[in-house]
Amino acid sequence: MKLVFLGPPGAGKGTIAAKAKTVYGIPHISTGDLFRENIRNQTELGRKVQSILAAGDLVPDEVTIAMVRERLKQEDAAGGFILDGFPRTIAQADALAGMTDLDSVVDFVLDNETIVRRLSGRRMCRSTGRIYHILYNPPKVEGIDDETGEPLIQRDDDKEEAIRNRLEVYEASTAPLIDYYRSKGLLVEIDASKSPDEVLSAMVKAME
Ligand code: AP5
Repeated sequence: MKLVFLGPPGAGKGTIAAKAKTVYGIPHISTGDLFRENIRNQTELGRKVQSILAAGDLVPDEVTIAMVRERLKQEDAAGGFILDGFPRTIAQADALAGMTDLDSVVDFVLDNETIVRRLSGRRMCRSTGRIYHILYNPPKVEGIDDETGEPLIQRDDDKEEAIRNRLEVYEASTAPLIDYYRSKGLLVEIDASKSPDEVLSAMVKAME
């Protein structure tokens, strides 16, 4: 199964992908996670993109496309994948079409008010990327990752100003992909306002 997860920031793409990868036995490839891993390790790429991510702007297409091209060549992606957060521009979508075919593009639909509530309460484990929410999916011990015991952090781009910018960037650059994939007959729209398990089962059902 070759899937793209599309949708605004905070729609729950990463949360659902973490569950769906087990259902389908395919890797979850998140460009945001790949960039954050590079930032954590202070690689050349990480240093280049750090301030871009913090502001909620998009990393230049050529950098992102090259990173995804390399990732999709890895063996675990040969039998399928969930691409989360890529493509985000028409140029990225055109480049992806040259790399692989797709089975479906899942668009997670959510209103802005809920998005802001989800993002401002999100916390994550820096080393594993595991996602929590202070109200909707709290850890067993406040502020601590359930498995590693590490303190949870708030992403730099989950601060108010960056959230606002990410929503504007989404509307301007990424939302046009909805029509792009609809016209190719690949788009499946899912109501992302329900609980994670309900969203997952709606998605699995739509894939059947
Ligand atoms: P990225 O990490 O992809 O961020 P994003 O698309 O903004 O998506 P998020 O991770 O914020 O949200 P999500 O939809 O995964 O929601 P989540 O499951 O966490 O990208 C970060 C940055 O990297 C970009 O801004 C850009 O700079 C750069 N970048 C990445 N890809 C790029 C590309 N292709 N081109 C250029 N630049 C790129 O859920 C959010 C919260 O809600 C969590 O707290 C969760 O617990 C909670 N939640 C989730 N689902 C539910 C539910 N059903 N009910 C209640 N709460 C829920």
